[in-house]
Amino acid sequence: MRRDLEEYPEIAEEEIREALAFCVRQIAGILPQFTHQFQRAYSENGFYAQTENRDWTTGFWTGEIWLAYEFVRDNPAVVEKMGIGSPAEIQQAFCHAAEVQIDSFLHRIREKIDVDHHDMGFLYSPSCVAGYKLTGSPSGREAAVRAADQLLTRYQPVGEFIQAWGTMNEPGNYRLIIDCLVNLPLLYWASEETGDQKYRDIAEKHIHTAVANVIREDYSTWHTFFFDMKTGAPDHGATCQGYRDGSAWARGQAWGVYGLATAYRYTKRAEYIELFRHVTAYFLDRLPEDLVPFWDLEFNYGDDQPRDSSSASIAACGLLEMSKYLEKEEAAHYVGIAKKLMKSLYDNYAVKDMAVSNGLVLHSTYSNHSPYNTCDHRGVDECNAWGDYFYMEALTRLEKDWRQYW
Ligand code: GLY
Repeated sequence: MRRDLEEYPEIAEEEIREALAFCVRQIAGILPQFTHQFQRAYSENGFYAQTENRDWTTGFWTGEIWLAYEFVRDNPAVVEKMGIGSPAEIQQAFCHAAEVQIDSFLHRIREKIDVDHHDMGFLYSPSCVAGYKLTGSPSGREAAVRAADQLLTRYQPVGEFIQAWGTMNEPGNYRLIIDCLVNLPLLYWASEETGDQKYRDIAEKHIHTAVANVIREDYSTWHTFFFDMKTGAPDHGATCQGYRDGSAWARGQAWGVYGLATAYRYTKRAEYIELFRHVTAYFLDRLPEDLVPFWDLEFNYGDDQPRDSSSASIAACGLLEMSKYLEKEEAAHYVGIAKKLMKSLYDNYAVKDMAVSNGLVLHSTYSNHSPYNTCDHRGVDECNAWGDYFYMEALTRLEKDWRQYW
C-alpha cells in the first residue's frame, strides 16, 4: 500500500530554481544541434536525434526554448552564476532559435505539411502562440491563426466533435480522443485574437461531446471514442495507447486532468470542476509509491511494466491550472499535490548528467504495444518531447505567476 499523499515532501523553492537552471543549461548546450532541426518525439538510449518539422510533437521543443528564454530573462543573476555565458546573449540565442522555428512552423502550415490531424494545438500553442505572446512575433500570430483554421477542418458536425486522426469521413476514423482537450486552447486564443467566435463555438461543442463520452462511470477514461457516421450517436470507446479497452491509459487520464482544467478556464462551467475532482482522484489513487505512474493505471509494483513520467508532469500542470479557480483551501490542496509529484520527478526521474541524456526527464513511455491495443511500439522508457516540455511548464508555473501559452 502506498503512503498517504499527506506524508510526501513537496519540492522546495530552491529545488524548483535548480531544476529549471539545469533545463536551461541542457537546452543551451544542445541548441546549435536543434535550431534548424527539431528533436525527435522520443529519445533512444536517452538521446534525441535530429528530425525535420513533420511530427505532432515538434512544438514542445520550441516551447522548451521559450520557457528557457523566460527563465533567463527573469533570473539574470542566477544565470550569471551558472558560468554558461552572458544572460543577455543566452536570452538572445534562445529567442533567435525559437524565431527560426516559428518560421519553420509558418512554412509547415502554409504548405500543409503533415497537418491532417487534430494536434494543431500541441504544435502551435507552445511554439507560435508563445512567441506571439512573448515577443509579438507576427509570423507566430499568422502561423497560429492558420493552424486554428486547419483544426476547424477536422470538425465533424454529425456528432459534434473534432476528428483526431486519419482521412475524414471514414467509419474507422470517426472518433475523438481525450488528448484533444489540450489542443483546444488554440481555438480559444484564435477567437480572442481575431474576434471571430467560430473557433470558440467549435471548441465548446467538442468539449461537450468529449466530456460526455470519454469519462466512464467510475471516472476512469477512454482514450478514444467512436461515433455513428450517419446519426452522430455515441458508439463505443476503445483504446489505442492504453493496455486494453476498459483500462485507464495513464497519459489519457492525465490529459483528462489538464483538459478539464483548461475546459473550465475557458467555459467557466461548474460541472467541469466536479468532473476534474473525480478524474483527478482516479489518477492520484492509482499512483505507486513514488507518485509517478506506470504507463497504464492498471499496473503497480510487482508488474514488470515501464513508467510514463510525462503523465505526472501533465497532471501537475492540470492541478496547478485548476487551482487558480478554486477556493483557497482546495487550491492549496492541489498545489501541494503538484509539488509532491514534481519533487519525485526532480529527485528520481530528471536528467542531472548530460552524459546520460540530452533530454530533461527519463522513464517516459510514448506507445507501448500490448496484445490488446492498436499502437506501434516506440519510445518506451525514454525521454519524450512532451514529458520534457510539461516538466518545465509545471516548474515554471510553480516558480512564478506564468502567462500561459495555452
Ligand atoms: N497525444 C498523443 C500521446 O499522448 O501520445
